Amino acid sequence: MKKPRVNHPWVKHPYRVTLIRGDGIGPEITDVALQVLAATGAKIQWDEQIAGLRAIDRLGTPLPEATLQSIRKNKVALKGPLTTPVGKGFSSVNVLIRKEFNFYANVRPVKSLPALSDRFGPVDLVIVRENTEDLYSGIEHIVSPGVVESVKVITRKASLRIANFAFKYAEQNGRKKVTAIHKANIMKLSDGLFLDCARQVAKKYPKIHYDELIVDNACMQLVLNPSRFDILLLENLYGDIVSDLAAGLIGGLGLVPGGNIGESGALFEAVHGSAPDIAGKQKANPVALVLSAAMMLDHLGEKKAADKIRRAVEKVLSQKKFRTPDLGGKATTKEMGEAIVKRIRS
Ligand code: NAI
Repeated sequence: MKKPRVNHPWVKHPYRVTLIRGDGIGPEITDVALQVLAATGAKIQWDEQIAGLRAIDRLGTPLPEATLQSIRKNKVALKGPLTTPVGKGFSSVNVLIRKEFNFYANVRPVKSLPALSDRFGPVDLVIVRENTEDLYSGIEHIVSPGVVESVKVITRKASLRIANFAFKYAEQNGRKKVTAIHKANIMKLSDGLFLDCARQVAKKYPKIHYDELIVDNACMQLVLNPSRFDILLLENLYGDIVSDLAAGLIGGLGLVPGGNIGESGALFEAVHGSAPDIAGKQKANPVALVLSAAMMLDHLGEKKAADKIRRAVEKVLSQKKFRTPDLGGKATTKEMGEAIVKRIRS
C-alpha cells in the first residue's frame, strides 16, 4: 500500500478528525463539506462531537469534556460556526477552544475567485491573526455603576510567536511581504509591544519585505488598493474585523476559509458565523467551509485532494446557475454542494 504523505508526526492514516457541525447554518454547510471530502477519496474517520447551543440543550454545558477530549486526542478538527449570545450568556465557545488548545495562529487566505467580479481588483492576501489574547482575554469588570473595564492583554511571548509564524508562513508559501497592522500611536504600550516583536522577527527574514500600517489606514488601503497587501499580521481584535472587511472585497463571508493552528493540532472553520438570518433556509454558501476542509487536507498532507476541491469550487462558481443568493444566484446550499461533488468526481 502506498504510504501517505504526512506533514506532522501526530497525524494517523486513515485520519481521525473531530467534527463539530455547529448551529445556525452550520449543519447545512457541514453536510456539503462532508460530501465534498468524501468525493475526494480522502480516508477520514469522523469523531462527531457537539458544542455551543446544541451542547447546552443536551448536556447543560456549551463545551462538554468529551468534545475537548476528542480534539485533544485527534489533534485535527473541522467545525461549523457556533452562536455566541450578544451582551449576555455564555462566553464564546470558539474563543474557549482556541485558548484551551493554544491554537494561536488564525490563518485566513482571502483570494478572489476568477469567476466572480473583482470590483476591488485582484485580491490575494493572507490574514495571520493572533488568536489567544488581546481584548479577547475575557477580563472584564464593573469598576462602579456605569463604568466598566475590558482588559487588553498583549504579551511578548504571544506576539513573538505569531510574528514568527507569519514570517515562516511567508517563507514556506512563497509570499513576499508581511504588513503589521496596529494602533500603536494610541495604544503605545500594548500595540507598541506587538510592533516591537514584529520588528524583531522581521530582522531574521531579510528576504521578506516588512512594513507597518495603522489599522484605520489599513482598512482604507484594503478597499482602495488590496493588491498592495500580501500577509497581514494582526492582533486578535483587528484580525477579526479586518477579516470580514477583506471577505467583502472578494464577494463576502460565504467564500473565506480559515484554520486555527497550534503546536499540537489545528481546527479548521469558515471565517463567518452561524448566520441566523438565513439558517435552515438552504440559502447559505457552503464554499467557505468547503475551502476550510481543503485547508485541513493541506494540513494532513493531502495536497492533491485539497487542490481537487479548490479547482472544483472555481469551476462551479463560474456558472451562475450554481451560485447561492449571497453571490447573486438562486441555487440552494445543497445544489451548490452537489455541483462541487459532481465536478470532483468527473
Ligand atoms: P455572520 O458571519 O454569521 O453573518 C454576517 C452576515 O453574513 C449575515 O448577513 C449572514 O447571512 C452572512 N453570511 C455569513 N455566512 C454566510 C454564508 N456561508 N453564506 C451566505 N451568507 C453568509 O455574523 P454575525 O451575524 O455577526 O454572527 C452570528 C453569530 O455567529 C453570532 O452568535 C456570532 O457570535 C457567531 N460567530 C461565530 C463564529 C464562529 O463560529 N467561528 C465566527 C463569527 C461569528
